Amino acid sequence: MTPKNFPAALRPEIAAMEPSRIVQLWELGFEQEDVIPLWVGESDLATPDFISRAAFDALQAGRTFYSHKRGIPALVEGVAGYSSALYGRDVGVSRVTVTSSGMHAITIILQTLLEPGDELLVIEPTWPNVVSAARIAHGKVRFLALDPVAEGGFSLDTEKLKAACGPRTRALFINSPSNPTGWMIEREQQQEILDFCRERGIWILADEVYARLVYDRPVAPSFLEIAGPEDPVIQINSFSKTWAMTGWRLGWLVHPPSLGPVFSNMIEFSSSGAPGFLQEGAVAALGPEGEAFAGGMVERCRRGGEIVFQRLSGLPRVAVARPTASFYAFFRVEGMDNSLSFAKRILRESGVGLAPGSAFGEAGEGHLRLCFASSPDRLSAAMDRIEPILR
Ligand SMILES: Cc1ncc(COP(=O)(O)O)c(C=O)c1O
Repeated sequence: MTPKNFPAALRPEIAAMEPSRIVQLWELGFEQEDVIPLWVGESDLATPDFISRAAFDALQAGRTFYSHKRGIPALVEGVAGYSSALYGRDVGVSRVTVTSSGMHAITIILQTLLEPGDELLVIEPTWPNVVSAARIAHGKVRFLALDPVAEGGFSLDTEKLKAACGPRTRALFINSPSNPTGWMIEREQQQEILDFCRERGIWILADEVYARLVYDRPVAPSFLEIAGPEDPVIQINSFSKTWAMTGWRLGWLVHPPSLGPVFSNMIEFSSSGAPGFLQEGAVAALGPEGEAFAGGMVERCRRGGEIVFQRLSGLPRVAVARPTASFYAFFRVEGMDNSLSFAKRILRESGVGLAPGSAFGEAGEGHLRLCFASSPDRLSAAMDRIEPILR
């Protein structure tokens, strides 16, 4: 039975929340046959066997109980070792917290930092989930648009970023390499922003879930390489993208040691901890076999990105940059003023699932996003289908 004052029982901003436009498209596609799905951010590869096997063995061995809030010791040590080796900096276990996905990591950070009315500065186009998570946490979101550069691609103006920070700005959300644009921040800009944030007491939320998916260097520049343990920097990471583990819902944070007990509480009072047997799979992902798999994933995505870039850049209405990071082509289509209806049309007429640029905020309108973490055959088939519509 519906309660008497039912509409009044919800927080108005939650009741008014729109579903993600990526998800809208995706759900539309459930009803259609023979769809090539390039809309969400995941590889078409299943998780490799050595990772699944490790989780399976733990499950079979009966490790099915409540577990450590901030992660099983083997995984916390694994992440600390992985981060230390990758960035040539000592990252101790007191700075590591395992979460139930990158999304969960973002949720608990925003709940921890934002007081009602506090602002989160988000660089646009942006992955939309962070915006909704901030609003759910009673925060306000201020947007700073990246500047488009000729022939596709984007750049960040740090002067504009500083000017966009007001007295209520509590944190900056910097996702690099970026979903959806593939934009990647360089070291000098990181340093300038870190200096600014140190002085102003503003948190940097460095979403680096695509740090390994880089095609012009071994790894994307990280705030962890320049920040000390007590700096106002929290790195957000995930097992989803690099190791083909989107369905596992496992991520991690690197943060100042003093936040460890705080995040322990935030985890206890949200997920109460990620499943221990799944974490045992993640331990395997961070080992030598996982490193080899990650290298293969980068090569596969590099090839996929090149196929898509070559095909798209031959179309006169399309402006696209050669991908240097993440696994998305975010391309402008001349004359397309409603990307949501255009993406629906592409789905209907060609059976290819793309994400509409408007899903990533106003600055994304006029664009479409294609995830190229798929096999060359699948990507070529998708391009054959959509080229006539994009011409
Ligand atoms: C920029 C960014 N951050 C975080 C995530 C979260 O990843 P997950 O929740 O799968 O760990 C995603 C997933 O698409 C993403 O694109």
